[in-house]
Amino acid sequence: MCGIIGYIGERQAQPILLNCMARLEYRGYDSSGLAMASGNIEVYKDSVRVNELAKRLPKIEGTAGIGHTRWATHGEPSQANAHPHCDCTGNIALVHNGVIHNFRKLREQLTAEGHNFTSETDTEVIPHLIEKYYQGNLEKAVEAALLEIEGSYALVVLRADEPKLVVARRDSPLIIGLGDRENFVASDVPAILDYTNRVIYLEDGEIAVVTKDDIQVRQNGRKLVKKEHQVSWSIEDAQKGGYQHFMLKEIHEQPKVIRDTLGDYISMVEPIVNFSALSSAPLEDMLFIACGTSYHAALVGKYIIEELVKIPARGELASEFNYFQQPSARTGVVAITQSGETADTLSAMKRLKGAGKKVIVISNVVSSSASRIADQTIYVRAGPEISVAATKSFTAQLMALYWLALSYSNVDISRLDSLVTELRQLPHKVQQILDNEEAIAKCAEYLSKYDNVFFIGRGISFPVALEGALKLKEVSYIHAEGYAAGELKHGPFALLGVNTPVIAIAPQDDTYKSMFTNIKEIKARKSPLIALAEEGNETIGEMADLVITVPKTEPIFSPVANVVALQLLAYYTAKQRGCPIDMPRNLAKSVTVE
Ligand code: AGP
Repeated sequence: MCGIIGYIGERQAQPILLNCMARLEYRGYDSSGLAMASGNIEVYKDSVRVNELAKRLPKIEGTAGIGHTRWATHGEPSQANAHPHCDCTGNIALVHNGVIHNFRKLREQLTAEGHNFTSETDTEVIPHLIEKYYQGNLEKAVEAALLEIEGSYALVVLRADEPKLVVARRDSPLIIGLGDRENFVASDVPAILDYTNRVIYLEDGEIAVVTKDDIQVRQNGRKLVKKEHQVSWSIEDAQKGGYQHFMLKEIHEQPKVIRDTLGDYISMVEPIVNFSALSSAPLEDMLFIACGTSYHAALVGKYIIEELVKIPARGELASEFNYFQQPSARTGVVAITQSGETADTLSAMKRLKGAGKKVIVISNVVSSSASRIADQTIYVRAGPEISVAATKSFTAQLMALYWLALSYSNVDISRLDSLVTELRQLPHKVQQILDNEEAIAKCAEYLSKYDNVFFIGRGISFPVALEGALKLKEVSYIHAEGYAAGELKHGPFALLGVNTPVIAIAPQDDTYKSMFTNIKEIKARKSPLIALAEEGNETIGEMADLVITVPKTEPIFSPVANVVALQLLAYYTAKQRGCPIDMPRNLAKSVTVE
């Protein structure tokens, strides 16, 4: 997720672009750049924040320009990989937000046709494609180029000798801001609220030509009449996209995050990782190391690998790993870290590397310290995660683990097909849970009056119980413990009673029968019980005080559905208790100390 901006009008564009870019940095902040049309195209960009770029910029005359704040996906943060990107002639400049899945193939073709590439990005294929089709009309060339592109994009194109901005979107947000003898193009409303609150929302497949006095929007060549909207948000509200907190916004981004992350893996010609890179001999087992929420993803990874790859796997806390034996030469080691900067995980990775082990990392931040230590990085596409409580990065990590296991699975082809089909349906199933958030908010009202809560699960739902408890702890300050359901009777039963509710994660998989017995045992000890159950489960309602229903999935995918419901439960419970949800006390988004 990057921030893009365009301005065309009568005022000097440079100060306006810089101000709008600063408002977009919550979308991406590892690089920034702009291009101005002043006779020719002048581009200034680097892997620096906007205020640093502003300090270095000479004063550039020009009343039209484009700008970008980057969240690296393809190609580490660097001057060459920063946007805008240009064609060979330097006459066409472009900023882009999204992921081009087929860029490798397009790049090969264009290189064979004599185009020189100067960056590692997926984006750079677009200005070269536009150059290839340019015959005096920028809009037509952009249309032709977009026909060859697979993936998501919001883009703004500028040409030195054409006083217009050509913009287009598919599966990435783009708005047009209307001014008086000037117009703006931006990824999001916050960028332009200092100048106008009159906006047009571009829809997927629409392309627009924006000049200082006019906006023409077309779809499949047909001219469209677009409705103008008046925005009444404050800038801070707008950065949250109208959600009250970044946590809720990020929970609602998960269908797209799952689609983007899977989309990348599915489009890859090569498997996402080469196991042989991990060990010269066939792998005997897998070791996942991580902290916090990423550790819970690692534990889900254990069940996924054992079920699909049929080799033993384990998840270890990175902060404890330093006290353990080094894994064997035939153990595949995968570290998981959203930020890529968590000190405990980095030191465990360094210790493994020091012992000659190959390490792969699953991470959300391109070119983080972890991806520099690792032998290979599997990137997820969660985009910037602002809220301290990790939500969308967890489901994105699960997508990486599913794809990793499916790439090396030991299951028959028909099962593989049905699993991949179900994986593609997950965004839709997660959307169903988001559409049912009111019911979950009701359960949160009930839960918010308690100070001690247990979460229980069996099998692949055990780590989900741990994650549900962590989310509730982090944002609502309720003392919550995640427990393997079978373990409660070995001690914690002593704490059960009317003041200690239990949240039971009970998908109807091979653990359900034992889970139902545990639920009866808990009810016998008078604890209020909230059950997370799959649609169509007629019996659990008889035992549970409240039921949160989630769509039915293949058992191995149930953590995705259940964890989204538990994220919403934690969010609304914290809201009920008036907690500072995005910035919980005593916590940091990235823990860079051991
Ligand atoms: C989760 O909500 C917390 N923010 C925290 O537990 C986090 O998961 C942990 O610090 C690991 O962070 P990482 O994934 O960036 O390494």
